Amino acid sequence: LISRTLQNNLIVPSWLQFCDIIKEIFDMCKEVRDGKVASYIPQLGRANPESWGVSICTVDGQRVHFGDTTKPFCVQSVSKAFNYAIAASDLGADFVHQYVGQEPSGRLFNEICLDLKNRPHNPMVNSGAIIVSSLIQNKLNLADRFEYILNAYRKISGGEYVGFNNAVFLSERLTADRNHALAYYMKEYNCFPKETTSLNDALDFYFQLCSLEATCESMSVMAATLANGGVCPLTEQRCIDSRPCRDVLSLMYSCGMYDYSGQFAFHVGLPAKSGVSGALIVVVPNLMGICLWSPPLDSLGNSCRGVAFCKELINRFNFHNY
Ligand code: DON
Repeated sequence: LISRTLQNNLIVPSWLQFCDIIKEIFDMCKEVRDGKVASYIPQLGRANPESWGVSICTVDGQRVHFGDTTKPFCVQSVSKAFNYAIAASDLGADFVHQYVGQEPSGRLFNEICLDLKNRPHNPMVNSGAIIVSSLIQNKLNLADRFEYILNAYRKISGGEYVGFNNAVFLSERLTADRNHALAYYMKEYNCFPKETTSLNDALDFYFQLCSLEATCESMSVMAATLANGGVCPLTEQRCIDSRPCRDVLSLMYSCGMYDYSGQFAFHVGLPAKSGVSGALIVVVPNLMGICLWSPPLDSLGNSCRGVAFCKELINRFNFHNY
């Protein structure tokens, strides 16, 4: 970063000007009062609706933060993107896609349905995410698998904060009738790999992945690793292979925003993934990773301030893919 600064060769050359505009969009979206904090899991319902943070990390490691960017939150469904990228880096995309499709489901994220080949539609809906997590290091015991994923996340975040919220994990497990129903339905259709002998363990692992914690700052680095082809911009270490990195961005583009994915792709034109904690990552390929966090969600489950931010970002900058 220092040598590129001295050479005046940074990916965003007028950085201070760029940051001023980001601050304006941040302030503007702070006024958004729409949405409701997710309450279907009691621990999530206690989130502060006022929390609002924006962090950006470029592929050159330039950083900017506004608002609540050091407060931890659960990654929830944002984990689905990274879990897929990790599984596909370990096992190869073709192997992973024997178990999960690439098609938007057009249904709710937790709906009980499979695609024409009897696989979950894609890795971004609950069914697909449960299957993808059951592929990760599935010859190890749960303790070693958890440790493996935690280390993988820490590598992707360049060593910045990744934690675990046990209260959310226990709460997820207590309120998981639908996820149990999904798992049994998929078992009936032989969707799981043969290594999965306990559905309870498979679900526990999935809940643990939802209950990992990050901050806007650390998650912006994770998003920047995706923007940078799978190489963490802070450590210059490869954490995700280049093909799975491309693939996860394609899936985020078509399926990352629940039933708003089509409209988001149309209006914003960038790969993104949201979660019920109000976390949202947006990737501008070859340029930057953005993490937005604000707990109130719209009726489709996306952060209201997060979506408002993305729309304004596209008004101000030429980041739309097309
Ligand atoms: O499986 C659940 O109920 C949630 N914890 C999933 C998290 C989420 O953000 C919704 N996602 N697709």
